[in-house]
Amino acid sequence: MSRLFVVANRLPVTIEKQGETYTYRQSSGGLVAAISAYLSQDGNTRFAQKIWVGVSECSETVWQTAAGTMSADYDFKPLFVSPKTYDQYYNGFSNSVLWPLFHYFPSFADYQPSFFEAYLKINTHFADVLLQNLNNDDTVWIHDYHLLPLAGMLRKKLPSLTIGFFLHIPFPSYELFRVIPKQWQHELLSGLLGADVIGFHTEDYRQHFLSCVQKVVKAKSENQMIIYNGRQICTGTFPIGIDFDRFHNAASDRNVLAKRADYLRSKQDKKLLFSVDRLDYTKGVFNRLKGYREFLVQNPGYRGKVVFALVIVPSRDNISKYAERKKMIDEYIGNFNSRFGNISWQPVIYQYGHLSFEELLGLYTACDLALITPLRDGMNLVAKEFVASRRDRQGVLVLSEMAGAANELTEALLINPNDRKEIAQMIRMGLEMSPGEQEERMTAMQQRISSYNVITWAKAFFSKLDQARQQQNQTEPRLLDNFAKAKLFQHYTQAENRLLLLDYDGTLAPFTADPQAASPSETVLQVLAELSADSKNYLYIVSGRDSDSLERWLGHLPVGLIAEHGVKVKHPKTAWQERGTAATRLALLNVENLMMNFVEQCPGSFIEKKDFSVAWHYRKADLSISELKARQLYQLLSSTVDPAALSILQGHKVIEVKGANINKGEAIAQLLGQYPSDFVLCIGDDQTDEDMFRKLQGNSNAFTIKVGSESSLASYNLLTPYLVQELLQRMCTCDELV
Ligand code: UDP
Ligand code: G6P
Repeated sequence: MSRLFVVANRLPVTIEKQGETYTYRQSSGGLVAAISAYLSQDGNTRFAQKIWVGVSECSETVWQTAAGTMSADYDFKPLFVSPKTYDQYYNGFSNSVLWPLFHYFPSFADYQPSFFEAYLKINTHFADVLLQNLNNDDTVWIHDYHLLPLAGMLRKKLPSLTIGFFLHIPFPSYELFRVIPKQWQHELLSGLLGADVIGFHTEDYRQHFLSCVQKVVKAKSENQMIIYNGRQICTGTFPIGIDFDRFHNAASDRNVLAKRADYLRSKQDKKLLFSVDRLDYTKGVFNRLKGYREFLVQNPGYRGKVVFALVIVPSRDNISKYAERKKMIDEYIGNFNSRFGNISWQPVIYQYGHLSFEELLGLYTACDLALITPLRDGMNLVAKEFVASRRDRQGVLVLSEMAGAANELTEALLINPNDRKEIAQMIRMGLEMSPGEQEERMTAMQQRISSYNVITWAKAFFSKLDQARQQQNQTEPRLLDNFAKAKLFQHYTQAENRLLLLDYDGTLAPFTADPQAASPSETVLQVLAELSADSKNYLYIVSGRDSDSLERWLGHLPVGLIAEHGVKVKHPKTAWQERGTAATRLALLNVENLMMNFVEQCPGSFIEKKDFSVAWHYRKADLSISELKARQLYQLLSSTVDPAALSILQGHKVIEVKGANINKGEAIAQLLGQYPSDFVLCIGDDQTDEDMFRKLQGNSNAFTIKVGSESSLASYNLLTPYLVQELLQRMCTCDELV
């Protein structure tokens, strides 16, 4: 079994000196919270060993002293680096160039060349340490903006290493990215493209990345793939989740309950608003306070009856923009309390410091309303943790629509953080919301984030990594020229048992605006009839279509039919058999409900329902709106669908959801066992056909053909369905020619 190296700037533990002894606590921030939750899960047996590699904030001697007291479900590999270089890499390039720019604060960025040099130096140091420890079959999982060039550095030395990269912050649009000096842009992106899979929280961030790659390194991308330096790199959307059960169950933990009781006692009968963030200008603390102020101005009756507990966790305070912010917040709150408060009531209770888990959960569960208003946030785990912790299904979440989490937490009261009137309005609406409505909204959000938690998130990432590694064996497009055709015909005529596996749409029938109009032409029916009449041939149509359409169009022929990518199979002259389950059907009902909203929002789009899959088609809808809606739907599905049960496919102007273990590759695997053949022909045009081509890789009797000009796992390409028809017609006569 291979080992997993999780690589991040920060180690998950921070060592602190208390008197003469060293203690340690979990480091702050969403990255550490999520990844350590994944690594600590019982039953996480994919890797033989898990090692977290990151920079140590303390000296080697202190680390050695403190390390003995640490216990974790994984090992640590600390890096010791020069404090000056680290400062220019961390406070400099990472947090004074990339962080502000990627969060749409370009005026805060400081483009000093020495910062970039230090950034490359520390990344090189990471690469050197890793290379001393890595084996070829290990997996490296790199996290976040501090380490953008690292994958490229590792790839140069170990070309076949498996490398994943996940970005925990937004990826900005090209208009922002282009502000970085050109050579840096190139080094950052070409470095990132050393990974096999590059993951983002949202579909928008992924699209921004693709457009930057296209413009800066001029690499071609198709669907989720980029071709760069002869390698295929997969991109994906993986909205990060939390350890739902930990937060949900903690609500009944004794220590948490005790803290909660303390907070309830001190708030008395007042309503409690709560927020917690790292000190950061992206978190919108001012906007939040201004919104709260507006609320008190507009609703004087609430003065004395509401209190806002605002916790700021210290972060990056060596950077002037952060230290300034701290000062400004301190002053603002001082003025606020003196302007609105009195001896017996303070509208804001402010803490600048870290919270223990019990304190955090005590506050999540005691408050009436969580007010989370970032100006930009890659995801925002605090919002998800608050929702998960509410076992009582009470409490209201007011959330900025600029947080990645807003894509999933759609039942929150969503606000624009720049609109203080809207914040004020939503605070009032939240405080006056009926218990029934609170429960309804909480339940819907909890259902969503409990099924797509941090484990499903990591599993989805690793399964994409597996898929990417397999697809990298793909070859460049190679046209089926006359020479190759002659070889195919010769092999065909000499064979005694031939298996012919043909996709339908885009292969035998060209695409039409209405899927139901794509019936087979007379010529295609004729050629299929002739091929299937030959006793040496077993012919199967392997399609994503529903069984009724296939039956109607082709049921009269002695051919085998595979519908819905393998959900239903009909061997020649027998009845249909089904492979789907009742659980899949139930899960698909939820998906269909989600898709219905998109039909309403995107006129011209429609749902196609099959027995074990459901598809949203948008080829007839207005392009200006449908592309955006398709991205939103894909994003929503990625964060709500359990990847172990269902999988999501993006086809030509269609998004389809089907049972996870159902694909054309699995479907033909059975046929290959059933019909030992000395000639196999397999033709298909889209991503779902790649599963068949993959199954046939290494089979010396197989000819695999991709319809279209894109690269594929197939050995050859034919440009159009018309050329497929012509090939099949010639096969019908080539026996006679011998
Ligand atoms: N958190 C923390 N220390 C605290 C309070 C909270 O580490 O004193 C955690 C919080 O539980 C959450 C994370 O910090 O898991 C913040 O993640 P988020 O995605 O909201 O923001 P980030 O800090 O990553 O920008
Ligand atoms: C965000 C970043 C993480 C970072 C965390 C805390 O979540 O995406 O990479 O670790 O903030 O920031 P810090 O600078 O203290 O590590």
